[in-house]
Amino acid sequence: MTAVTDLDVFPPSPEFAATANAGPELAAAAEADRLGFWADQAARLHWHEPFTEVLDWTDAPVAKWFVGGKLNVAYNCVDRHVLDGHGDQVAIHWEGEPGDSRDLTYNDLLAEVSRAANYFTELGLEAGDRVAIYMPMIPEAIISMLACARLGLTHSVVFAGYSPTALRSRVDDAEARLIVTTDGQWRRGKSAPLKEAVDGALADGEHSVEHVLVVRRTGMDVPWTEKRDAWWDDTVAVASPEHEAQAFDSEHPLFILYTSGTTGKPKGIVHTTGGYLTQTSYTHHYVFDHKAGQDVYWCTADIGWVTGHSYIVYGPLSNRTTQVVYEGTPNSPNEHRHWEIVEKYGVTIYYTAPTLVRTFMKWGHAIPEAHNLSSIRLLGSVGEPINPEAWRWYRKHIGADKAPIVDTWWQTETGAIMMSPLPGVTATKPGAAMGPLPGISAKVVDDDGNDIALGETEAVGYLVLDQPWPAMLRGIWGDMDRYRETYWDRYADQGWYFAGDGAKVDEDDAFWVLGRVDDVMNVSGHRISTSEVESALVGHYGVAEAAVVGASDDTTGQGIVAFVILKESAHGGDADLVAELKAEVAREISPIAKPREIHIVPELPKTRSGKIMRRLLRDVAEGRELGDTSTLVDPKVFEAIRNS
Ligand code: WT7
Repeated sequence: MTAVTDLDVFPPSPEFAATANAGPELAAAAEADRLGFWADQAARLHWHEPFTEVLDWTDAPVAKWFVGGKLNVAYNCVDRHVLDGHGDQVAIHWEGEPGDSRDLTYNDLLAEVSRAANYFTELGLEAGDRVAIYMPMIPEAIISMLACARLGLTHSVVFAGYSPTALRSRVDDAEARLIVTTDGQWRRGKSAPLKEAVDGALADGEHSVEHVLVVRRTGMDVPWTEKRDAWWDDTVAVASPEHEAQAFDSEHPLFILYTSGTTGKPKGIVHTTGGYLTQTSYTHHYVFDHKAGQDVYWCTADIGWVTGHSYIVYGPLSNRTTQVVYEGTPNSPNEHRHWEIVEKYGVTIYYTAPTLVRTFMKWGHAIPEAHNLSSIRLLGSVGEPINPEAWRWYRKHIGADKAPIVDTWWQTETGAIMMSPLPGVTATKPGAAMGPLPGISAKVVDDDGNDIALGETEAVGYLVLDQPWPAMLRGIWGDMDRYRETYWDRYADQGWYFAGDGAKVDEDDAFWVLGRVDDVMNVSGHRISTSEVESALVGHYGVAEAAVVGASDDTTGQGIVAFVILKESAHGGDADLVAELKAEVAREISPIAKPREIHIVPELPKTRSGKIMRRLLRDVAEGRELGDTSTLVDPKVFEAIRNS
């Protein structure tokens, strides 16, 4: 990482500060009375019944926020804006990949969400039931999420790039009764089947799914199971647009979202209602300096990830945002697509991932320069550390050298942004998430939990959250032991949440998040566990053993590098086999998990206790001198690996 000097500090401009939503009083209020501060933030929402207690932490590490309160998430995201007289405001400027587009006002959204809620009710679904959503970025995906929220159905959105196997394991784990999907999805001008993948996932019939609801998107032919399957057009589209929302308990489970952990089995992260909506609404308002009715906001994430949940659906809609939702990739039909969309809608706030910024850099600044991007007044980054070069490029070429950049650190588990500069308040440094937001508390500590002294720039520690926060996960679906073990056992004495990230704090008290310290890789901002990929590889008949590491990659942050030992029977034809193994991982998990390189090796480096030494494999993958090999059973194995 390039050294950062004083010249690299970007103080807020007086013009931005003059109209910023945030001011220094925000942090002062949170410091004076943390729980009172959160109670004030909760007042951003409409409560059908007020809460009686802000936080109940007696059952730690399972929190209850806004105890006794009742609210409806969809009412807060849709109905109340219509009732307040903003029904004609555009909620979603939707841009389809092939060039079709559609605007939905808050009135439209209310009618559509109500229709879907009426049809889900007709299917016999009841509050607490789970619904899987396996869809591309089309308005019906957001409508389905909101219809679930409206009825107290717990949704589990599964990224539409995931394989039938990955979908099935998530559907099984949550015991979903309904899957909402599409016939197919557009990908770089071609239609790819999706309903067929659902049928593949459900082929054996031994599952919890009673209904499959299908939105027509590409018009392709689909396999059909009578009684189980229904077209959205024949059902939701003809249902009544009137529906009265009921209120649910503040701790009612809103959604489950699966994310990779250190073992092969994805964790179903559980989020609830009142605290989650409070913090997503609060952070969206202040971190993005969002002004309802004026800004045009665009978060480029997919609803399959938490960023899509919190910063496309719940945070923005609770704040009556007008936003762009785009279905496709940034280079279809060409590399101008994002900037054409920015120009077309006058996007003012643009939130994306560092991997995309680095891709734009590779494409060259002539591309954004061909467009009028003067509407942009704030830029956001999320998903992985943003390297200072990319940060500077982003500010200069997309932000006209003046838009503040908010580098937002958070996780699927935290539910909402935890660390970020506050635009108009915080002076930023390229590459630093700066510090916890008002109301949030974080520390960087050593193995024993001692503070790492400020300014000890060389000392890298672990990032912990030492106070509960409203949007925190409430557990892992069906596995509370794993919840405690994964996040709370590491600093059990102190009662801190272990984030799994390495970090440091500099002499100005700025936090720098450095990346995962566990066996989780970060590829283009997607979290993938090494063991998930390893189990996909050993699932192939030719593979005896596999070890996977994340190696640094100029564009994607990390790239997946696999080392495999073949079974005797599979030797010969290695080149074909490598291609086949890559395809196998894409098929088993998703194309996003496809290894960048696969090395066929005769042996893997192991410790005397039989653990694979991934650290050394990472050295090999990144072309470095080997670290300490003294604990290896057979240090010579590296010659064999290097030569293969
Ligand atoms: C992990 C969480 C947060 C939504 C998208 C990813 C890394 C995320 C930053 C950032 C440095 C970051 C961390 C974190 N990460 N944002 N601004 N700076 N690292 O959610 O899939 O749950 O991944 O992403 O390593 O632990 P996720």
